[in-house]
Amino acid sequence: RTFAWELCDLAVAAAREAADLVRAQRAGGIGHVATKSTDTDVVTSADRAAERLITDRLRHARPADRILGEESGTHAGRSPVNWLVDPIDGTVNYVYGLGHYGVSIAAQVNGVTVAGVVRDIDSGAQWHAVRGGGAWRDDRRLTGSAVTDLGVALVATGFGYQPQRRARQGAVVAGLLPHIRDIRRFGSAALDLCLAAEGLVDAFYESGLNTWDFAAGGLIAEEAGLRVTGLAGAPAGADMVLAAPPALYGPLHERLAALDAAAG
Ligand code: IPD
Repeated sequence: RTFAWELCDLAVAAAREAADLVRAQRAGGIGHVATKSTDTDVVTSADRAAERLITDRLRHARPADRILGEESGTHAGRSPVNWLVDPIDGTVNYVYGLGHYGVSIAAQVNGVTVAGVVRDIDSGAQWHAVRGGGAWRDDRRLTGSAVTDLGVALVATGFGYQPQRRARQGAVVAGLLPHIRDIRRFGSAALDLCLAAEGLVDAFYESGLNTWDFAAGGLIAEEAGLRVTGLAGAPAGADMVLAAPPALYGPLHERLAALDAAAG
């Protein structure tokens, strides 16, 4: 077991426990809901409880590591390992009881993501990856979509919570639609990247994501053979996370770059 696999095992165990906690809480109702950056950006008591559980588990196992959590911010540490934690990615789906929300945990060493896990809270499906060690759904190794023609590609995307960003994202998606099979907006970037890794959608893109939304899913997609970058090339970032199999990457990147420039 390499160091990255050890980090992955720890993330898998914490994600499973957190998912069980959220599922149990959801069975009793949605709990307390508060808003964050805008009225549409929500956080629930389950997000907070799950993040506390995950940070407790990570701190207990590896007290010197740093942790960046969506809800609680930065926990300092002096080790080169930095954890990125999103306790519920897809909180709006959680609130509406729609399914498709998940726990996302990634481990970076000196700024490079080396391990990641995403767990679908409702279904219990789990995706994980270790840099250089492949991407997996449970015990099955993933290879992404074999589609080579953008015109028949099913592309997943998402929209942020700020009205201005949404208007721009709307303009980009309107320009893309005539050139692809269709768009899907499922509501969790972390899980969407796993679907792309599995080939259940052909590609994914979204602008304005936070690192905790895409670090684990991005590695899972990359290890499944997809190219995962930003708009200006690697690495993926807040400007854009674009994940596509090599044959689709070029044409999709070209379209998105032109549309994004025109929308700005
Ligand atoms: C959100 C989801 C959504 C994406 C948003 C994210 P959250 O994360 O990933 O699919 O479109 O940009 O903020 O707030 O549910 O953790």
